[in-house]
Amino acid sequence: MALLKKLTQAFGPSGNEDAVRDIIIEEITPYADEYSVDTLGNLIVRKKGTGKKLMLCAHMDEIGVIATVVDDKKFVHFSGIGGVKVSALHQNKVVFANGEVGVVAEKSEKPTKVSDLYIDVLLDCKADNLYNISVGDVAVYDGKYDENGGFVSSKALDDRVGCYILIEVLKQIEKTDNDLYFVFSVQEELGLRGAKTAAFGISPDYAVAVDVTPCDDVPGGGKYPLKLGGGPAIKVKDGSVICHPRVKKLLEQAAKTGRVAVQYEVLDKGGTDAGAIHTSGAGVATGALSVPVRYLHTPCETASIADIEGAVTVLKSVCSEAL
Ligand code: CO
Ligand code: ZN
Repeated sequence: MALLKKLTQAFGPSGNEDAVRDIIIEEITPYADEYSVDTLGNLIVRKKGTGKKLMLCAHMDEIGVIATVVDDKKFVHFSGIGGVKVSALHQNKVVFANGEVGVVAEKSEKPTKVSDLYIDVLLDCKADNLYNISVGDVAVYDGKYDENGGFVSSKALDDRVGCYILIEVLKQIEKTDNDLYFVFSVQEELGLRGAKTAAFGISPDYAVAVDVTPCDDVPGGGKYPLKLGGGPAIKVKDGSVICHPRVKKLLEQAAKTGRVAVQYEVLDKGGTDAGAIHTSGAGVATGALSVPVRYLHTPCETASIADIEGAVTVLKSVCSEAL
């Protein structure tokens, strides 16, 4: 899983996806017929066919923080980019684009909001890079990649694991009539922004978004029935979409063909790129396949390698079938 490691460790908070995009371009070039980068920064990779247009989509961006004030003592005050958690930031480290590391500490005893926290960048103080953080600079969780007994944990599995899956599908795909668009979108964590313009530009016949879904089969958990290692999850619904029955069925059929066990995902809240894609243009039949992840939106998001491989198998089969 060297590629997954490389993808998760790349720096890419929403709006700053360049490093992630560069890695993906390098990987896909030998396998793609063509690729382009649109105005917002979405990477659109095409494998041409004469049949229907299928759009697969995974987002490149990760959640992060943005400096709002650097005070006269050089402490950095900040706000969130996407759904960062106070509990996950507090007493952990963040890394800025220039590699500078900051410790996140609290202004009040029991921090409940991001504004109760600040970043102390003194940790990494070398004479030449001291205090070079400015307002508007962005940082991400410091969360290294580990593999252990069939599981991976890292920052940004949301949604580099989706990017990894799409790259693997493109690499492994056999001949198909379908006109395939692999979209690596930007700014999902800020409200599905990149997928919206990408879907408008492509105008696909049908689409599948690939993302992660919360899985809390842990002590004190149980809010969601998904199990880590129970297989990729076919989304039924979240806060942004009710998946199209035909695409849902297509995913079920593909799982059957590939002999992959699947689970079903039903969420009250949250959203993925599927939400933006299905209401694009005059409407797009859209579904989603999700990788169950424990500790979502923390520096140690955890997933099962078997679930990831299962998702690749299902999507390979989707790519070669007609809707
Ligand atoms: Co997310
Ligand atoms: Zn995501």
